[in-house]
Amino acid sequence: MTEDKFKKVIAHAKEYGFVFQSSEIYDGLSAVYDYGQNGSELKENIKRYWKDSMVKLHENIVAVDSAIFMHPEVWKASGHVGAFNDPLIDNKDSKKRYRADVLIEEHVAKIEAKINKDIEKAKKRFGDAFDEKQFRETNSRIIERQKKINTILDRFKKATETGNLAEIKQIIIDEGITCPVSGSKNWTDVRQFNLMFDTKLGSVSENADKIYLRPETAQGIFVNYLNVQKTGRMKLPFGIAQIGKAFRNEIVARQFIFRMREFEQMEMQFFIRPGEEDKWFEYWKNTRIKWHKALNLGNENYRFHDHENLAHYAKAATDIEFKFPFGFKELEGIHSRTDFDLTRHQEFSGKKLQYFDPETNKSYVPYVIETSIGVDRMFLAILSNAYDEETIKKENGKTETRTVLRIPPALAPVKVAILPLVKKDGLPEKAREILNMLKYDFNCQYEEKDSIGKRYRRQDATGTPFCITVDHQTLKDNTVTIRYRDTMEQKRIKTENILETVDNEVNIKNLLKKLG
Ligand code: GAP
Repeated sequence: MTEDKFKKVIAHAKEYGFVFQSSEIYDGLSAVYDYGQNGSELKENIKRYWKDSMVKLHENIVAVDSAIFMHPEVWKASGHVGAFNDPLIDNKDSKKRYRADVLIEEHVAKIEAKINKDIEKAKKRFGDAFDEKQFRETNSRIIERQKKINTILDRFKKATETGNLAEIKQIIIDEGITCPVSGSKNWTDVRQFNLMFDTKLGSVSENADKIYLRPETAQGIFVNYLNVQKTGRMKLPFGIAQIGKAFRNEIVARQFIFRMREFEQMEMQFFIRPGEEDKWFEYWKNTRIKWHKALNLGNENYRFHDHENLAHYAKAATDIEFKFPFGFKELEGIHSRTDFDLTRHQEFSGKKLQYFDPETNKSYVPYVIETSIGVDRMFLAILSNAYDEETIKKENGKTETRTVLRIPPALAPVKVAILPLVKKDGLPEKAREILNMLKYDFNCQYEEKDSIGKRYRRQDATGTPFCITVDHQTLKDNTVTIRYRDTMEQKRIKTENILETVDNEVNIKNLLKKLG
């Protein structure tokens, strides 16, 4: 999908009540979004699918709902006060602010794009005989460009590891990186910028303590580790899951809901015996990719990306990347966090956070494998993948385009639309009777305005998997037409079979069963 199509997805999201700019009538707030009537339903369904897959399918995983505000010491212990920074740089001419690491990454991506272009050209020239590996290893231009990339990444890695901000700026200067707005190389020094939002606790703000809006939900799980373990009499290994808002003062917030300042996370901390982390890391990599692939968004749209630059807490980390309209980007992180967090909370709180293992008769601080996914990113993955402009041939030989959201039926905001063919002859009454029968099981929509064709198109545009049309024959033999969103196929079925037919396709249970 091109950037151009991505713009269409964004416009569609607004036009059909999925996503609105926050405070839009006041010209919006940068990188903050609201979910509309359809968006909030889709979001709820994503969360339900995730939570059920964690809690219902694992007898040793439970969920909590911890507060957004936490004791300020939590963020010192977790390392966020000291280390949750991005390096930023300003262009003195355009007055625009950038993340220095992103400028460097984008510069590297441009060189990579040149390599790929050469490869594409060669592929066309040599046809089936083309050997990409050999070409990469022997073509002098590619070798030189790859060497350049490696040198930049090496320098950047060393500079980041040693916190050498002057060196990060020097890379930008040496590589001749220009400001995308002013085109100049007139840069300020690189500074560290902490991503946490802070506020004051208490009614008299001058005397109040500084507290933070949580930048991740994970810490709410760690500080409740012992509460849950004791009250739930949990035995290792066990997991605690949580869905909730997180806040980050992102320097460069772009790409719609991909990087927001207020967003939602679905995180799960899996507490294990030290020494078993490699086994569980693999287990969670496999379990999470299966969860994604069960949605049928196309297996080719996922890949793992192992981290080389590990966060301060991690022993190993991998991203599940998804092919967004703007390329492969992180959708979910899976991290082997060792005993870092619990040990730090022990130190800072002075409370023991250990597990007594009845099998070994020893107490120890458990290790943790974390899975962490952004609800909003998952939403964007689904929405951009679902958006389709399909050319259809009409009976008169002409063509038309229908815009359809092929959202996985189990996640669709509205499951079934009930449409009386005309607004008279007792059809609306019959349609409402059917609606009253279905509304306890599904999110339904009743529509009687406009031609049936227009109504079908509107339902296609919001991703409704089924339309039920009530016509004059319905009054005679109690049958309706059921129309399938993806194929536009229409079938006549008995009214009493609607519930089962729809349920077979839209019940989240079917997705969960694929996960075993
Ligand atoms: N507890 C670990 C943690 O928070 P992370 O990689 O910083 O790790 C996890 O974030 C996930 O949260 C990401 O994979 C992404 O899906 C989502 N996420 C992070 N920052 C985000 C932002 N600014 N806007 C939207 N989603 C974000």
